Amino acid sequence: MKKQSLIDQHNRHLNYLRVSVTDRCNLRCSYCLPTSPFAKLPHEEILRYEEILRLIRLAVSLGISKLRVTGGEPLIRKGIYNFLEELGTIKGLTDISLTTNGILLKDHINQIQTAGIGRINISLDTLKRDKYQQITGRDRFLKVWDSIQAALQMGFEPIKINVVALKGINDDELQDLAHLSFDYPFHIRFIEYMPIGNVEVNPRQNLLTPEIKKHLSALGKLVPIARDVDDGPAERFRFEGAPGEIGFISALSHHFCHQCNRLRLTASGQLRTCLLSSYQVDLKNPLRLGYSDNQLAQILLEAVQHKTREHNIAKKTQTCISSRMSAIGG
Ligand code: GTP
Ligand code: 5AD
Ligand code: SF4
Repeated sequence: MKKQSLIDQHNRHLNYLRVSVTDRCNLRCSYCLPTSPFAKLPHEEILRYEEILRLIRLAVSLGISKLRVTGGEPLIRKGIYNFLEELGTIKGLTDISLTTNGILLKDHINQIQTAGIGRINISLDTLKRDKYQQITGRDRFLKVWDSIQAALQMGFEPIKINVVALKGINDDELQDLAHLSFDYPFHIRFIEYMPIGNVEVNPRQNLLTPEIKKHLSALGKLVPIARDVDDGPAERFRFEGAPGEIGFISALSHHFCHQCNRLRLTASGQLRTCLLSSYQVDLKNPLRLGYSDNQLAQILLEAVQHKTREHNIAKKTQTCISSRMSAIGG
């Protein structure tokens, strides 16, 4: 029998799974967390590591080869380093990566490297300590900067720095952040804010990529870098002579859905076929009801057929996505 794989109705081959291991976070970023009080997921609602690993192995048998661990903040979950080690033993996973806010990264960087994590993406929206505290609610800039330097020393490649660009928040620093690409081999990625959930940020603070590019023009000419088949949503550039890269993730102004190869597993065991759609399929209950691998595989294959051709979030209101960014994992 021909092996079934994850191909959607628009002939996109889905080979990349993003797994959120927790909805909790040790920061309170204004663009990510809701303004009104919200309930954290109760522990029993969160998939246990062995459940996540079973789903990952299944997904790999259906064609997933790239995996990113996200959160909330993944490194605050107890047992995460053993989990990462287990992940590293799964045959068929050729690229395992981590998205983190960097606070706990330095203290555990050896374990992360030993586990086989190759690529690390770190959120950093400002280079100023007081601004960092203002955006994230915590005075942790120095800790994150140390982690970034530690990752560099350990030879992680590439190290991607995620900057959510917002008017009146960090638009005065876009050049300084981009300038890091002259000093380090980092990929500095400017991300258009995506209105998910009821957060403090007003969509009018949005900075779209063309405007961000204008801010950066004083630093020199941005030379495009040819895309790799496996490239993610970022449009890649480099300033002439710079060791690092500049990326733009333009989810609103120039969406990249036609080349989307992603699925998401939320911390509560929901399979999401698109970050910007509320469509999700429950895997937690089937898992806990004792479904066989075949039955679970059928759920995955069926869900993939519902993956939307493209999102239309730019046309909708702020609260259209039924979840929090921290629960879906970005
Ligand atoms: P790699 O390509 O594997 O390096 O990952 P990435 O850059 O997609 O991952 P990261 O977790 O660093 O996310 C960076 C930004 O891209 C975040 O704001 C994510 O929400 C956003 N993003 C990631 N994947 C998608 C996607 O499929 N659709 C949209 N609209 N945004 C995405
Ligand atoms: N829009 C765009 N990016 C976001 N992130 C978190 N919330 C949003 C949002 N509303 C980014 C963080 C992190 C990545 C996983 O998602 O900066 O680096
Ligand atoms: Fe893929 Fe949805 Fe993101 Fe578009 S918005 S790139 S379909 S996850």
